[in-house]
Amino acid sequence: MPTRLLLLLCLSGHVFTKEPPEVDCWVIHLKHVNCSWNKQGTPDVNYTFYSWFHSEKEKNCTTYVSENGTNTGCIQPYDELMDRRFSTFHTRLSHGNKTFERTHQLKQKVLLDAPINLTVKNDSDYNLWFYWNQTAAHCVESEVRFRVNDKNWETSLVSIGTQKYCINLPSSSSRYELQVKSRVGENCGESFNWSSWSEPAVWGSNNITDTNVSVSAWTPLLYVVAAVILILLVMMILPNERLRIIPIPVIPKPSLLLYDIESLRRPPLRAAEAQCAARKAGRWRGPGTRSAAATLDACRALLADHLSYGDRWGNPPAGA
Ligand SMILES: *[C@@H]1O[C@H](CO)[C@@H](O)[C@H](O)[C@H]1NC(C)=O
Ligand SMILES: *[C@@H]1O[C@H](CO)[C@@H](O)[C@H](O)[C@H]1NC(C)=O
Ligand SMILES: *[C@@H]1O[C@H](CO)[C@@H](O)[C@H](O)[C@H]1NC(C)=O
Ligand SMILES: *[C@@H]1O[C@H](CO)[C@@H](O)[C@H](O)[C@H]1NC(C)=O
Ligand SMILES: *[C@@H]1O[C@H](CO)[C@@H](O)[C@H](O)[C@H]1NC(C)=O
Ligand SMILES: *[C@@H]1O[C@H](CO)[C@@H](O)[C@H](O)[C@H]1NC(C)=O
Ligand SMILES: *[C@@H]1O[C@H](CO)[C@@H](O)[C@H](O)[C@H]1NC(C)=O
Ligand SMILES: *[C@@H]1O[C@H](CO)[C@@H](O)[C@H](O)[C@H]1NC(C)=O
Ligand SMILES: *[C@@H]1O[C@H](CO)[C@@H](O)[C@H](O)[C@H]1NC(C)=O
Ligand SMILES: *[C@@H]1O[C@H](CO)[C@@H](O)[C@H](O)[C@H]1NC(C)=O
Repeated sequence: MPTRLLLLLCLSGHVFTKEPPEVDCWVIHLKHVNCSWNKQGTPDVNYTFYSWFHSEKEKNCTTYVSENGTNTGCIQPYDELMDRRFSTFHTRLSHGNKTFERTHQLKQKVLLDAPINLTVKNDSDYNLWFYWNQTAAHCVESEVRFRVNDKNWETSLVSIGTQKYCINLPSSSSRYELQVKSRVGENCGESFNWSSWSEPAVWGSNNITDTNVSVSAWTPLLYVVAAVILILLVMMILPNERLRIIPIPVIPKPSLLLYDIESLRRPPLRAAEAQCAARKAGRWRGPGTRSAAATLDACRALLADHLSYGDRWGNPPAGA
């Protein structure tokens, strides 16, 4: 029995020497006051919470916030908090015959939700306009941050009452990303804390990855065009200059030509065309044992087979 009494005394002593819970209150989005009393940890008991603005009636808590079943906060809606927040705010926590009262100044403790409906419009004047919506626009200042092509963020202040931002002469080949946050501005009793950033809005036809894709898609085509031009130049120069000294080794035989087409495709094909054209014009001085007419037929057949449509002399495809 004495030990139990001692234990009880120790426990109650512990309870009574414990600090009163600290109550922290914020005006959330000018819609309700959110108070919490779990800064030093979840309390041992369920406190009942009362609150009131100066010279108003006290109110029971409408919505408790709880942690593991124990009350740790209260969300209390109020009208006209833009004006009311200038009055002293009173809170009372009570449990049994213990009560803790406190007063708070909420003027600068407004926390807005992030701006919503952030949209981007490409105006006809070649400017990029961003629009958003925030509560109490006439009293709210904003800060935007934007970045181009995922580089560093640039920030910019937007004055009270303005819910839009302009970027001049954007480059349509870049990617623009913008976000906005806001708080009650100086004229209306500046709040300490900014809202969180809004959802981003993105503008720009081309992506960084898009640009890479288009470059890699064009590169092979450029190589092909360059190769064709080079071969055409060689074919134009060679027949006119010292052909007996430098015989053209490009396509000695139709059978080899076929092999070349299969393995190398375009350049040999162009060479074959050029040789055929030279033979037809009677300018062919290169090697070749067959008669000019027979070789020409072989040329045509090969070309038609390869292209699968009429050759450049207007003949139908081979076999048609
Ligand atoms: C109220 O405050 C508590 C603690 O700061 C927080 O966890 C909770 O999300 C807040 N509720 C609202 C509606 O802001
Ligand atoms: C607080 O109240 C809830 C129910 O309202 C209960 O489940 C919980 O155990 C209580 N917590 C304490 C510490 O009494
Ligand atoms: C608050 O609630 C208690 C019971 O939960 C009730 O007795 C009391 O009258 C209420 N006070 C007000 C101001 O609503
Ligand atoms: C809630 O209870 C669980 C288990 O009982 C514990 O792990 C957790 O830390 C508690 N949460 C808080 C916020 O106290
Ligand atoms: C307050 O409560 C304690 C125990 O919880 C009790 O000993 C004390 O008499 C109470 N005081 C009043 C004024 O009711
Ligand atoms: C935001 O956009 C939604 C749908 O686009 C619309 O219903 C809502 O009214 C807008 N909110 C504001 C504050 O303009
Ligand atoms: C932006 O608007 C201008 C003028 O209306 C137009 O010429 C341009 O193509 C637009 N750019 C995009 C990416 O929509
Ligand atoms: C939302 O913002 C747009 C552009 O700033 C504005 O025209 C519109 O009236 C706003 N909507 C509301 C509900 O405030
Ligand atoms: C307000 O800002 C301070 C300082 O940045 C920060 O420590 C605190 O957590 C913020 N409060 C809320 C409710 O966001
Ligand atoms: C950019 O490209 C990536 C991957 O190709 C895609 O997920 C993303 O949506 C694109 N962004 C824009 C703004 O087109």
